Amino acid sequence: MNPIDELKTVAQEVSECKKCALHHSRKLAVPGEGPATAEIMFIGEGPGFHENEQGRPFVGQAGKLLEELLAKIGMQRSEVFIGNVVKCRPPGNRDPEPGEIEACSNYLDRQIQAINPKVIVTLGRYSMARFLPNAKISAIHGQSTLAKGRLVVAMYHPAAALHQGSLKPVLEADFLRLPEMIAKAARNHEETPAEPEPKNDAKQLSLF
Ligand code: URA
Ligand code: SF4
Repeated sequence: MNPIDELKTVAQEVSECKKCALHHSRKLAVPGEGPATAEIMFIGEGPGFHENEQGRPFVGQAGKLLEELLAKIGMQRSEVFIGNVVKCRPPGNRDPEPGEIEACSNYLDRQIQAINPKVIVTLGRYSMARFLPNAKISAIHGQSTLAKGRLVVAMYHPAAALHQGSLKPVLEADFLRLPEMIAKAARNHEETPAEPEPKNDAKQLSLF
């Protein structure tokens, strides 16, 4: 299936999914949004109050900060893909449970495969843990790492930066490095032929 159709199919399946208990409390599922040609995918945790109302990711305060950060690197949200680890709102914004993340993982995997982004930016712990299960965000934020055959950059969640002001300049500095990472990823891609994705990836190689 071509990437645009695959993204549409995933969104359709998500909108009526009942694979985990989160479907009971959702108003609207939030499949994620952005062009199939996006070079960057941002992956957050899960929908909050406003996202659940509107069926769109990052439309509250955290989303506003994400848009401001994108503007600092000359980008708009319409150019990137924005999604989440779980597509339905955990009640009261509680953390998603491992079983819920697992139940939802196939959707995110298919979105990543369809888009084939140059860089995946994880926002927050749960998103990071999907690619780098043992990493500590304070140690690796802003660094690019090869995980599951993908270039992954872990960043603090914008909501965390809103909550704890000292993290905001850290998040900003990490964002400012993104254009160079994308350029470098593009150069590496041209120089080295694509390798097949390792199946059980234990390799986490810091590239730059
Ligand atoms: N926080 C998230 O992790 N995802 C959203 O979509 C909104 C807020
Ligand atoms: Fe389905 Fe994911 Fe929603 Fe659970 S969170 S009901 S797995 S779409």
